[in-house]
Amino acid sequence: MTTVRRFEVGDAPVVAEMIRRCLREVNSRDYSADIIDRMCAHFTAERIVELAAEREMFVASQDGVVGTVARDGNKVYTMFVLPETAGTGVGRLLMGHIETLAAADGHEFMETGSSISAHGFYQRLGYTDVRTTDTDFGLNYILRKPLR
Ligand SMILES: CC(C)(COP(=O)(O)OP(=O)(O)OC[C@H]1O[C@@H](n2cnc3c(N)ncnc32)[C@H](O)[C@@H]1OP(=O)(O)O)[C@@H](O)C(=O)NCCC(=O)NCCS
Repeated sequence: MTTVRRFEVGDAPVVAEMIRRCLREVNSRDYSADIIDRMCAHFTAERIVELAAEREMFVASQDGVVGTVARDGNKVYTMFVLPETAGTGVGRLLMGHIETLAAADGHEFMETGSSISAHGFYQRLGYTDVRTTDTDFGLNYILRKPLR
């Protein structure tokens, strides 16, 4: 069974390692080695703790952490699922969790900045393209989904 709970500081090393594995094993198909190296250097356990203080961060847990996502109002951040657990519904579960919270707060739409690698995932969940943007971490798609 997969449960969703708030991120705790003690999760930071596991979450950081999961993100780095996603970057090296999944996102590396779509981004240069230079960008992947910079992103891996960015997502340290310390940085995760800082981000969790700025945003509402969640983890999906089975026997251990298998996914994470964060939101700031209606904005989605740091959506990552353990590579061996990908494709089993964890990402959809986490997104549903934060979409429900954002809708309850009265937001009319959810907005995400997606990697090339996750673009099809967000489209599958009902998100549509708004624009593309060039970030320090390469090309991102901005997508939105109505919440009502
Ligand atoms: C993208 C990611 C978050 C998706 O999480 P996931 O748990 O594998 O997704 P789910 O299993 O919940 O999939 C939900 C639906 O999206 C589809 N889907 C998942 N990843 C997809 C992809 N990359 N392209 C197209 N469709 C995808 C699934 O087939 C599923 O469809 P269905 O419910 O109709 O069968 C995950 O694969 C990941 O961490 N990728 C690497 C890191 C990354 O790029 N994160 C996003 C940063 S913006």
